[in-house]
Amino acid sequence: MTEFPDILIRVLRQAERVAALTGAGVSQESGLRTFRDAQTGLWQQYKPEDLASPEAFTRDPKLVWDWYAMRREKVREVQPNAGHYALAEMGHRVPHFTLITQNVDGLHRKAEQTLKVSKTFRVYPILELHGNIQRVRCSECGMVADAWEENGDVPRCAGCGGMLRPDVVWFGESLPRSELEAAVEAARGCQVFLSVGTSGIVQPAAALPFAAKNKGAVVVEVNLEPTPLTEKADFFLQGKSGEVLPELVRAVWPQA
Ligand code: OAD
Repeated sequence: MTEFPDILIRVLRQAERVAALTGAGVSQESGLRTFRDAQTGLWQQYKPEDLASPEAFTRDPKLVWDWYAMRREKVREVQPNAGHYALAEMGHRVPHFTLITQNVDGLHRKAEQTLKVSKTFRVYPILELHGNIQRVRCSECGMVADAWEENGDVPRCAGCGGMLRPDVVWFGESLPRSELEAAVEAARGCQVFLSVGTSGIVQPAAALPFAAKNKGAVVVEVNLEPTPLTEKADFFLQGKSGEVLPELVRAVWPQA
């Protein structure tokens, strides 16, 4: 059982406003590879940057579509892990909780919906800064859908016939404005900001904990290893998020 500093437990227990930013590390224990893990199998010849970009889609739409189809299949096979559920429990306990994620796997929402079934549950915003792999968007007219006709090739938009693409943010693309604005507002207004399972390299998400810190928030980082945020964080909880977060929630809310 991890011992947490009393001050951290007290600050979290008393906090009215908490924000959490997550990255691929929080889904690693569900069996999903992180971005910085090497690609395997037939995809090992590619770097994510070579597939997750508008240029890659223009160059070879079928290759990009197939890579996302493989990842979507993987996401369908996995479940949220104890780290996702611990954050959902925190969302239930803290009066104003905002979950900000860079992940496109939808596992935070899955965890929230599972917990919601079991008890009356406080709803909290889940801001998907980089979109969601379960949705598609027309590359011509922008229509968004969560169901489409598969035909063995890159599916087409029912409205305009344009090619469908995953509704995720690619390298070089801007983030959805409303989600980003809400994330910045949550970072600036919170008393505690948690950064969990992210290498803290990709902007603008990586700037959020610093924005929180500048406004006086207590910053807590959960990661296997140090990141560019670590020296600025008030607490660095080194370990697997699927182990550290449930223990932290139990320490702060023993009745959880
Ligand atoms: P990364 O793969 O860059 O970083 C994963 C982080 O999680 C690393 O710091 C690991 O040390 C940590 N980690 C791995 N397993 C962990 C575990 N079990 N518990 C806790 N930490 C763990 O993934 P992200 O930081 O999410 O953007 O990458 C951010 C963005 O870079 C992605 O959203 C993507 C990529 O470019 C876009 O696609 C636009």
